[in-house]
Amino acid sequence: MHPNDSMEKSAAVERVVRYHQRTKHRLDRFAAGPDHLDWASQPDPFRRFAGTVTVPLPLAADHQPALFSDLFRPGTIVPVPMTVEAIGALLELSFGLSAWKAYDGEQWALRCNPSSGNLHPTESYVVASGLDGLADGIYHYACRDHLLEHRCAIRLPFTGLLVGLSSIHWREAWKYGERAFRYCQLDSGHALAALRYAAGVLGWQVRLLDAWGDDDLAALLGLDREGDFGVAEREAPDLLCLVASAPGGTVAIEPLVAAAAAGAWQGRANVLSRRHAYRWPAIDQIHQATRKPRTEVATIPPIKTAACLPTPCQTLAAALIRQRRSAQSFDDRGFVRIPVFWRLLDATLSRPGLPPFDVWPETPRVHLLLFIHRVEGLSPGVYLFLRRDGVAAELMALLRPDFQWASVAQCPAHFHLFRLFTGECRQTAKVLCCHQDIAGDSVLSLGMLAEFDAAMAAGNWQYRRLFREAGMIGQALYLEGEAAGLRGTGIGCFFDDAVHELCGLTTTRFQSLYHFTLGLPREDRRLQTLPPYGHLLHS
Ligand SMILES: Cc1cc2nc3c(=O)[nH]c(=O)nc-3n(C[C@H](O)[C@H](O)[C@H](O)COP(=O)(O)O)c2cc1C
Repeated sequence: MHPNDSMEKSAAVERVVRYHQRTKHRLDRFAAGPDHLDWASQPDPFRRFAGTVTVPLPLAADHQPALFSDLFRPGTIVPVPMTVEAIGALLELSFGLSAWKAYDGEQWALRCNPSSGNLHPTESYVVASGLDGLADGIYHYACRDHLLEHRCAIRLPFTGLLVGLSSIHWREAWKYGERAFRYCQLDSGHALAALRYAAGVLGWQVRLLDAWGDDDLAALLGLDREGDFGVAEREAPDLLCLVASAPGGTVAIEPLVAAAAAGAWQGRANVLSRRHAYRWPAIDQIHQATRKPRTEVATIPPIKTAACLPTPCQTLAAALIRQRRSAQSFDDRGFVRIPVFWRLLDATLSRPGLPPFDVWPETPRVHLLLFIHRVEGLSPGVYLFLRRDGVAAELMALLRPDFQWASVAQCPAHFHLFRLFTGECRQTAKVLCCHQDIAGDSVLSLGMLAEFDAAMAAGNWQYRRLFREAGMIGQALYLEGEAAGLRGTGIGCFFDDAVHELCGLTTTRFQSLYHFTLGLPREDRRLQTLPPYGHLLHS
């Protein structure tokens, strides 16, 4: 490496760390955000490209017979042929609407993938080539109407299906200001996991095409087409996946990008907000500072993990995916039985061939700091669940010297689970999560401690990756929670350094990036629930 390269690299890392520090919520001051919400400019959650040929998709999720438990028994679900109906089911179960909620004359849509503030920055695209019943080309998925907008009709030099994701940072920044970039990455992690689970329902595999750089992806998805966006809010490229009925496979970057650049593009993006009362240059800066270049595909050593603990859930996978919701409040008398707790933790581990982490091209870098409130047979307290072997020694040297590091009786032999502190911690969990009751009234809540400095040393774009990995864990917990009769909620609002201080962390070697809570939900009966696509059936 040339000395100038390494100076540039450390300057870029510094920019990322600076953004990370300035977007921390602190006990005495929240990260910079709007003084008030400009409701007149609330971003439209539905992107459309006017002037495109549209392809209505069948609503086929209900026809999928796979059980949730089948997803974790490789070979049980026979891959369905890649028809338009099956692609419709894939999109419906990953990024489609799951319900409309109505209250006091207002209506809002919920989706299979959750989103911070229900603002949904993530947009999805389909690249189809040589598939029966779907013309070749590049499509935007319009989830409200469950249809594809044909952005570019072109034969691409491969056969199969790609799914790409992008983020409209503005949608989150409208409400959350500078911290919004983090939420967009968390949301894209949730969306990636949602895609993996949905593909599993159809017996399909997903491979994250890790080598692609931002510019490659922007060119393929048409995100760099100034004229098609005009004054409309731009989309930042996030990731690209190959979806196939068999594992493996990849696609060459250059020929696809060249073909897309030469294609005839249609459509003009809609403007999502009439005005932008606030601007957040820190978001564009961190986006630039974490730009993903084209990279070599990393080879990671195969992870050796014991067979996964079975889930007893016999619900249809499609039904479970669509019933996923965030809990608004919990019955604080709820508790969870220990086998359910083991399964919840086990489902966050990476295993080849099992959703969702078989798509993840990296060694796990995010671990769970657990606040146990009501788990049968486990003393309340603070615990640590490491998602891979080999980090305990480093953490022992970094965390508070008075932590117990006690092993947990009867936990599955392959778990790296430690009790750090014994005692009631509901109030602490609540305060750490911006005083939100849901973190204390639950059966457990947790922070996701990421190997921050090690990740940054591997490349600035790893900043996005860490949040994405955390978002994927969140999605696994949402679905596993539903499968266990519990309900989860992602928690993006927490006091970062207060969490670190509690553990004794004084450097950025480990940083908490996301929190999550799970409990026995209390329904808000004032809200009316309407079917997700009733509006299509009526029209
Ligand atoms: C990254 C992320 C952060 C979130 N943070 C919070 C939070 O701090 N507090 C909260 O009550 N809900 C939080 N949520 C839940 C969202 O508000 C919820 O997903 C959204 O309203 C959509 O509802 P649904 O999950 O029921 O589909 C978060 C969700 C995500 C994905």
